[in-house]
Amino acid sequence: MPHPPSPTGDRFGATDTMSKLEAQRRLRDKITLPTLPEVVTRITAMVDDPKVRICDIGSVVAQDPAMTATVLRIANSAYYGLAKPAISPEQAATVIGGRSLRNIALQASLVGRYAHLSKKFDFDLTELWTHSVFTAQLCQELARRMPLSCKIGPEEFYTCGLLHDVGKAVLLDCLGEEYAAVYKAARASGEALHVVEERVLMFTHVEVGALVAQRWQFPEPVSHAIRFHHGPRDEVLAHPPTAVVALCDQVAYRINTPDFGAALPRLTSLARETLRIQPEEFAAFVERATVLRGLVQI
Ligand SMILES: [Fe+2]
Ligand SMILES: [Fe+2]
Repeated sequence: MPHPPSPTGDRFGATDTMSKLEAQRRLRDKITLPTLPEVVTRITAMVDDPKVRICDIGSVVAQDPAMTATVLRIANSAYYGLAKPAISPEQAATVIGGRSLRNIALQASLVGRYAHLSKKFDFDLTELWTHSVFTAQLCQELARRMPLSCKIGPEEFYTCGLLHDVGKAVLLDCLGEEYAAVYKAARASGEALHVVEERVLMFTHVEVGALVAQRWQFPEPVSHAIRFHHGPRDEVLAHPPTAVVALCDQVAYRINTPDFGAALPRLTSLARETLRIQPEEFAAFVERATVLRGLVQI
């Protein structure tokens, strides 16, 4: 039997709304932003200092044996295409450059930092990092192919792609099962994750990711690209780095699905509309993307 409405206004759902807002505030309070890995902080200070020798940047990585092994494995992967394998981080730095070495160190730190979550929750972190690294490679590739009027270089485009979904790992780390349930619900319904996050949590991985990039003092276009990689459209159209990340995120995601062929016309018009990439240039980029897809190392 339905119970009568209480004098506090249950009849209008006010108590429900209050308790939902309270639950969302409680979740928001649980979020703590990670600090930038020490090795990345040190490399960042060095890459901008003209007095620092490039091999000294490699020495920072060399102080950590576990990090050295991971960095060398990635630097020697087919993506970087070294003529001869690097045998030390110093050597890797001189060949691929300090900024790329920083990206690899950042990637290695992130994967290591959140690895323990795989065992605790039904959340595929390998899939998250594979997608992030692939998106990073695509962003860098696209930035190299087109003259973009913006203040960041191809290596920072890689950073944008690498970090665009980092908010998911942070949310999983801070909210645990509550975030894993949101992720699972999005998977089951087929809705976009950020839409479900907004509905349930009232905040999303893009906001959290952008706050992380700000805290880590990455250039403003990096945090903007993370914040708006799922839209709105006006923000994507007005900011080329954001358009690059939005487009590469979709290519990275769609290229792994059987309906990529069906999605291609829409992606081709998105590329033309947001970045004025002609269809034949985009077709060449997609061809390169199919190669890069096989070169992802995490
Ligand atoms: Fe995303
Ligand atoms: Fe993504």
